Amino acid sequence: MRRKIVAGNWKMNTTVSEGVELAKAVLEKSNEVPAEVGLVIAPPFTHLCPVAGVVGGTRIGLSAQNCADHTKGAYTGEVSVDMLKSAGCGYTILGHSERRQYYGETDEKLVEKVKLALEAGLEVILCVGENLEQREAGKHFEVVTAQIENVLFAFSAEDMKKVIVAYEPVWAIGTGKTATAEQAEEIHACIRRVLAGKFGKAVAEETTILYGGSCKPSNAKELFAEEDIDGGLIGGAALKADDFIAIAKSFEC
Ligand code: PGA
Repeated sequence: MRRKIVAGNWKMNTTVSEGVELAKAVLEKSNEVPAEVGLVIAPPFTHLCPVAGVVGGTRIGLSAQNCADHTKGAYTGEVSVDMLKSAGCGYTILGHSERRQYYGETDEKLVEKVKLALEAGLEVILCVGENLEQREAGKHFEVVTAQIENVLFAFSAEDMKKVIVAYEPVWAIGTGKTATAEQAEEIHACIRRVLAGKFGKAVAEETTILYGGSCKPSNAKELFAEEDIDGGLIGGAALKADDFIAIAKSFEC
């Protein structure tokens, strides 16, 4: 049985003290969520240590939102995988569309980052997804398949045990425009087929694939009921503990 996960991507929101309060509120309500649902929060870098003080040793996993593509040295402003690990992270998000779009993150760079993260013992939440133009041109399957091939095909079936994929159509992120459960499911199933072609059916069946993009309490149930949707990467709604927990309670289990 593959893992069900609901992960909160806080993006560049909250001050340190607000973030600590949010983490406390999520922790407090986490017992309402069935034990088999994994909970992960991804605060900004500055919050990781104090938030680790709140969620360390609990069921809530701690994730970064990005990592450097080098191990250490003269890379001003960057944060390495060892730093993340030592701050208490168990995960890092990589390849978020906002990083691809605004900070020039390429698939080539992502191969490097995924490699470093896995070597450091972090699990990776790798984001893929097409933009509006690509969707309107009917290229969504092609774009997502290429992102998966370009990044994940550099890794082994063993490595895949530590990789979670998040399908986030760019046109649905922060726009209030959610992909329908059907639109999301057909891409999730496609991602699983692509993974099966490279790593074998067993690995593909074990890989957790999350949906992200305006996922909220009102639509999570329908999305999570789909066969290949194993949870969500939640942006805006993760900034309210009640909404985040309500989403995590949306699985039929
Ligand atoms: P959203 O963001 O839920 O605010 O659309 C999702 C994400 O970008 O991870």
